[in-house]
Amino acid sequence: MRIAILGGTGDLGRGLAVRFCAAGHEVIIGSRDPSRGTAVAARLNLSNATGAANAGAAREADLVILACPHEGHGTFVRDMAPVLAGKIVVDATVPLGPGFTFAPPPEGSDAAETQALVPDARVVAAFHTMAARLLADRARPLDQDVLVCGDDPEGRATVIDLIASIGARGVDAGGLAAAATVEALAVLVVGLNVRYRRRDLGIRIAHLPPDARPR
Ligand SMILES: NC(=O)c1ccc[n+]([C@@H]2O[C@H](COP(=O)([O-])OP(=O)(O)OC[C@H]3O[C@@H](n4cnc5c(N)ncnc54)[C@H](OP(=O)(O)O)[C@@H]3O)[C@@H](O)[C@H]2O)c1
Repeated sequence: MRIAILGGTGDLGRGLAVRFCAAGHEVIIGSRDPSRGTAVAARLNLSNATGAANAGAAREADLVILACPHEGHGTFVRDMAPVLAGKIVVDATVPLGPGFTFAPPPEGSDAAETQALVPDARVVAAFHTMAARLLADRARPLDQDVLVCGDDPEGRATVIDLIASIGARGVDAGGLAAAATVEALAVLVVGLNVRYRRRDLGIRIAHLPPDARPR
């Protein structure tokens, strides 16, 4: 799969790029400055990754990941809207406010804001609770779950397959309304990492068999 990571030069983007490349996907690392994406691909020695401006990266990709900060999320998505229409858009943004509080936009979640701004996109919320630090260390197994939600069941299934390709487990959390809960959970996980002085804590759904299929 050809995957564009917008804001791919940051911590989460770099970690995902490492795992996607290791799984044989083609990655385009998007940035506001294309040379930064190219430099990251070179620095990480990722032979199946290239750098590009965010809009160009999205245009070339089968699937787009939003890995940009919560601050400026709406403005950024509005700018990118023309190149996101019709695509599976995976939003990993955590609406983190001051003092590790949940600070969502009026739509209820950053992913819902993306869907409202790009109604033709197939928005899927995922990767919020997976630490960049864990992703970047390819020697470590991704023994965590990723909650996946979105109103397009095919989009959710595609993202769950993508997550499986990097050795983690995607758990189908249903429609996009669940994104508010998932994003709030991610705020909690950030706080746990701080409280326990860790940078790799995540979540696992207990007793869900590996071969379980959602209804
Ligand atoms: N870090 C984690 O462990 C983690 C885990 C799960 C989810 N998340 C979420 O994933 C997102 C990215 O996290 P991160 O830690 O990778 O963030 P980050 O390093 O702070 O930022 C990612 C990239 O976004 C670009 N950027 C910065 N400000 C921007 C703006 N105003 N408009 C457009 N692009 C901008 C920058 O790239 P250029 O300067 O190259 O354009 C930057 O390298 C956040 O929403 C975060 O909540 C993070």
